[in-house]
Amino acid sequence: MKKNLGPSLCLYPMPVTIVGANVGGRPNYLPIAHVGILNFSTPQYISVGIQSKHYTVQGIKENGTFSVNIPSEDDVVETDYAGLVSGRKEDKSHLFEAFYGELGTAPMVVSSPVNMECRLYQTLDLSTHQIFIGEIVASYCDESVMTDGNIDLEKVRPMLFDMYRKEYWKLGRPFAKCWDIGKKLKR
Ligand SMILES: Cc1cc2nc3c(=O)[nH]c(=O)nc-3n(C[C@H](O)[C@H](O)[C@H](O)COP(=O)(O)O)c2cc1C
Repeated sequence: MKKNLGPSLCLYPMPVTIVGANVGGRPNYLPIAHVGILNFSTPQYISVGIQSKHYTVQGIKENGTFSVNIPSEDDVVETDYAGLVSGRKEDKSHLFEAFYGELGTAPMVVSSPVNMECRLYQTLDLSTHQIFIGEIVASYCDESVMTDGNIDLEKVRPMLFDMYRKEYWKLGRPFAKCWDIGKKLKR
C-alpha cells in the first residue's frame, strides 16, 4: 500500500554545500542543501534556493556573485554552526578561511576541498525564497582529493543532508557503473 503524503518534498538526501557571499565587504557563509544542477554544458548553471530573510541574500544581490563550496565531513561542526546562527546577528567571517578567485567578490572556503565560483545570472523571486541561478566561472579543487585528473568523491567525503531525520549522512560505496549496468537488458 502507498500512503499519499500530500505535496511533500521528498528529494532527500541532498549534498550539503556552503554558500559564501560578501555582505558589506565581509564574507558570510551558510549551509545550503537546496541546490540544483541546471544543465551540463557551457556555460554551466547552478541554482541555490535561499530563504529571502537570510543575511546572505543581501550579499548575493549586492555583488552579483557567490560561491558554492563542498565541505568534507571534517567541517561538520563549523558547517552546522553556520546554519544555526545568522550573519545578521553574529559575524561568521572567521568561521572559515576565505580565498577569492576571478570575480574578486565571491569568498570561497579554503577547507572545503571543492569550490565553485559563480556570477549571478538570474534570480527567481518566490517571495519566501530567492532562487539564485549562478553561472560557474571557475571551479577549484584540492589536488589531494583528485584521482587521475577527476574529483574523487571517496577522497572529498561530502556530507548528505536528510531533512526527514535532520541528520548528516556519509557517502556509501559505489555499487554499479553508470551507462553500463543497464546494458544487461540489451537484446
Ligand atoms: C544542513 C543545512 C542545510 C540548510 N539548507 C538550507 C537551504 O537549502 N535553504 C535555506 O534557505 N536555508 C537552509 N539552511 C538554513 C540556513 O543555513 C540558516 O538559516 C543560516 O543560519 C542563515 O544564515 P545567514 O542569515 O547568515 O545567511 C540550512 C541549514 C542547515 C544546517
